[in-house]
Amino acid sequence: MRFVVTAGPTREFIDPVRFLSNPSTGRMGFAVARAARTAGHDVTLIAGPVSLKTPPGVTRIDVVSARDMLRVVRTVIARADVLVMTAAVADWRPARRASRKLKKTEMSDTLHLVRNPDILKTINRLVRTGTTGILPVALIRIGFAAETGAPAAEAVRKCREKGLDLVVGNDVSEPGSGFGTRTNRVTFVTPDGTVQHLPLMSKLAVARRIVSFAEGVIQ
Ligand code: PMT
Repeated sequence: MRFVVTAGPTREFIDPVRFLSNPSTGRMGFAVARAARTAGHDVTLIAGPVSLKTPPGVTRIDVVSARDMLRVVRTVIARADVLVMTAAVADWRPARRASRKLKKTEMSDTLHLVRNPDILKTINRLVRTGTTGILPVALIRIGFAAETGAPAAEAVRKCREKGLDLVVGNDVSEPGSGFGTRTNRVTFVTPDGTVQHLPLMSKLAVARRIVSFAEGVIQ
């Protein structure tokens, strides 16, 4: 099978030295890429700015902003069977990006933001309408739901709203879970409303469960 995995944060620049972002390190996504490759799959990893080594045998494409990530995802999923979106994509970006460093006196106390495209919603729309004509009809789409607090209800909502086959709910406020940790405690939610709580385990073990899920859908 051909996997496309996104990982890490995006950066949304205000000027060349300032940006909006989040604490994602890419560990969860790199673990999914490693697990899929180890299971014998072809893997393309689309990474935001992170400082992790590429897992052996994985093709990596680096991106910076949410819009960069969407452009690359749109291109590479034409040949994919599975899309796993672990990336913490910034939902907003500054309305204007200055081409040179702004002086403090030039900056207002208020930053004007605009919404970034939602990558999963865009892909869902493209798959449903067959817009490009080259997208696979049966692309398995797996998303995450990062929440502070019990993630199951939001995960069910995101599963339906984004047309996903699986949402991995992630309580990022729980010790040992979420951003930057080596472990994760997640909840699997499927479109029929089934909720499966998994125990705390390494991100690689979570990644293996995700890969097994995708393999099970294809069989
Ligand atoms: O990288 P680590 O340090 O290992 O941390 C792992 C993690 C906490 C980043 C990861 O486990 C995780 O929860 N990733 C999803 C983070 C997130 O953006 O969640 P969300 O609930 O805001 O988004 C829901 C889904 O929509 C996600 O699959 C996200 O990739 C996707 N999305 C979000 C925004 C956007 N503009 N486009 C999207 O496609």
